Amino acid sequence: MEFHGDEAGCSGCARCVEACPECILELHEKRPRFEPGADADCISCGHCVMACSTGAARHSAFTDADFYPVERGEVGFDGLVRLFSARRSVRRFKDEPVPRELIDKVIEATSTAPMGFPPHTTEVLVFNDRGKIQELIPHMVKGYAGLEGAVANPVARFFVKRAVGAPLYKALETHVIPVTKRARRLYEERKLERYLWNAPALLLFHADRFATSNLENTWIAVTYAMLAAHALGLGTLVNGLLPPIVDRSKELRFKLGIPRDNQVQAALLLGFAKLQYKRGIRRKLRKVEYV
Ligand SMILES: Cc1cc2nc3c(=O)[nH]c(=O)nc-3n(C[C@H](O)[C@H](O)[C@H](O)COP(=O)(O)O)c2cc1C
Ligand code: SF4
Ligand code: SF4
Repeated sequence: MEFHGDEAGCSGCARCVEACPECILELHEKRPRFEPGADADCISCGHCVMACSTGAARHSAFTDADFYPVERGEVGFDGLVRLFSARRSVRRFKDEPVPRELIDKVIEATSTAPMGFPPHTTEVLVFNDRGKIQELIPHMVKGYAGLEGAVANPVARFFVKRAVGAPLYKALETHVIPVTKRARRLYEERKLERYLWNAPALLLFHADRFATSNLENTWIAVTYAMLAAHALGLGTLVNGLLPPIVDRSKELRFKLGIPRDNQVQAALLLGFAKLQYKRGIRRKLRKVEYV
């Protein structure tokens, strides 16, 4: 890794040095550089380059194309809260497909999200075809029917509990199993698809499970994607039922090309909403205390 201030433009102002969260840059003869031997501690956050007012900062982990000029103040707090407040989870989608450009924009917006080190751990599989999404349903039906059977059997239940741990087991028993039982009944008896809600598009997020902050990085990206999609006039729904099914299926992992070390972590359904909500809801944090 290498860092320097371009000879032609560097003023020696040390803004890059000041911006570095790892405190590994120094000025040497009025020019910035890594402190000797400290480059291994660089977390590739890019703050040194972004703080430079002359454009002279050069870091070998990045190219000019990785950066863009900052535009400030065009939304404001009220505008942002209006955007947050009008977003709703959507479970009724129009038949209309989602234009590829909109999906590209949603994904582009996730590239502005903060990322814990190492960055770039999250990968996305884009399904922009309802038929391909529906091919996942039999896997979900079968997977959750198997889980329901296991939880109903005292011996199998013991092993499930041991495998997933007490908190997740409690969530399975109190929330997941009742939801999937109902979804299966609706699907089998009434042909109602309440697993993936007949969504026309789906983003499936997966990440290297051994990378620090991999799960957090994915969820922040999902949140940005949700809000970006909403700003583009699309409805979204986070789906918690699909990721574990894909994650545990050798067949689906192989078919979808998911790397061995990657965990399938999140699914975001996308489409144009059939139903527009008239009111929002305040869901407060359980407790807020000033220390
Ligand atoms: C982690 C997570 C998992 C979720 N899983 C599902 C799911 O499997 N199926 C579903 O219909 N909704 C799922 N949701 C959506 C929530 O139920 C949704 O956020 C809730 O309905 C609140 O509605 P709102 O987003 O309009 O405020 C999930 C949401 C989150 C954050
Ligand atoms: S990329 Fe981040 S950690 Fe590395 S030198 Fe620049 S500011 Fe410091
Ligand atoms: S911020 Fe830019 S101009 Fe200032 S010392 Fe660093 S590289 Fe040079």
